[in-house]
Amino acid sequence: MNVLEVAGLNVSVRDTTLVSDVDLTVGPGERVGLIGESGSGKSLTALSILGLLPEDVVPSGSVRLSGVDHDLIGADERALSRIRGRDLAMVFQEPMTALNPTMRIGDQIAETMLIHHTHPTRSAARAAAADLLDRVQLPADLLRAYPHQLSGGQRQRVVLAIALSNDPALLICDEPTTALDVTVQALVLDLIVQGVVARSSALLFITHDLAVVATVCERVLVMYGGRVVESGPVHEVFTNPRHRYTQGLLAASNLEAAGSRLTTIPGTVPAAGHFPSGCVFRNRCAHATDLCATTPAWSGTSTTGYACHHPAGAPHA
Ligand SMILES: Nc1ncnc2c1ncn2[C@@H]1O[C@H](COP(=O)(O)OP(=O)(O)O)[C@@H](O)[C@H]1O
Ligand SMILES: [Mg+2]
Repeated sequence: MNVLEVAGLNVSVRDTTLVSDVDLTVGPGERVGLIGESGSGKSLTALSILGLLPEDVVPSGSVRLSGVDHDLIGADERALSRIRGRDLAMVFQEPMTALNPTMRIGDQIAETMLIHHTHPTRSAARAAAADLLDRVQLPADLLRAYPHQLSGGQRQRVVLAIALSNDPALLICDEPTTALDVTVQALVLDLIVQGVVARSSALLFITHDLAVVATVCERVLVMYGGRVVESGPVHEVFTNPRHRYTQGLLAASNLEAAGSRLTTIPGTVPAAGHFPSGCVFRNRCAHATDLCATTPAWSGTSTTGYACHHPAGAPHA
């Protein structure tokens, strides 16, 4: 049984489709990455799972979470707020938006546990809060501090402590280290992995940074133009990319062997609603032919495969 099962997810705003037919599963304790350039539909996918899309943005399809007997798509806000912070937790790019600027750190951590009744008393919740801070390697005296007194890296560690406070079945991180100094990025990534491993939580990790996915995740999905274009085990996809978009991403990343020339993908990501028909990547692809005006079928299994008419590399073993 998977922790998360997203099937046929579509997201649209008025008559523009932003996300098309996304299938995505995360198994128990599994760490799954979602990568792609900015504007590929990664955050909209995460927000659909969390039920946090803006009002004019409409999802369809299904999002199932283990232990929850109803579909999260179409669930009402009361049901969703019971699930968020308990079964499903999140860490976004900007920690300040997740924190209450007028509340002490210790009270904010205790609050999440009290709301979801995981600790019966305020004093038990406070003790647990101190323990959580310790697990993200922050000193206990920060319990009495306000968010503005912390550095960006410290704030993100507090957000992580809150996210992990109720042992969520699934943690969703969307560019959690992108806004942080490079010197603290590695520590925060390490704490995320340690945190989910210690709790056997599953992780859905969104980033545009392939090197980060390579260190954090076991499996990866590549998104472009609001679609999943390739997926599979990280080492397989990164050493033997099949979709020409994945191949381009890798060539443009710092993962390529030292000494080889970095090549950028030609052109830019179109605005939503302006991707070509057929293969969404064909107007930027050096291998595109007339065939690419038709939508490529998915080739492979539900967890490993690609959708490309002119794939690179060798068939996956
Ligand atoms: N509320 C919205 N209304 C219209 N377009 C949107 C909205 N939110 C996102 N988009 C568009 O959807 C596309 C995908 O966005 P997003 O999921 O944020 O991409 P990513 O996280 O991969 O960078 C982008 O072109 C973005 O401009
Ligand atoms: Mg995003």
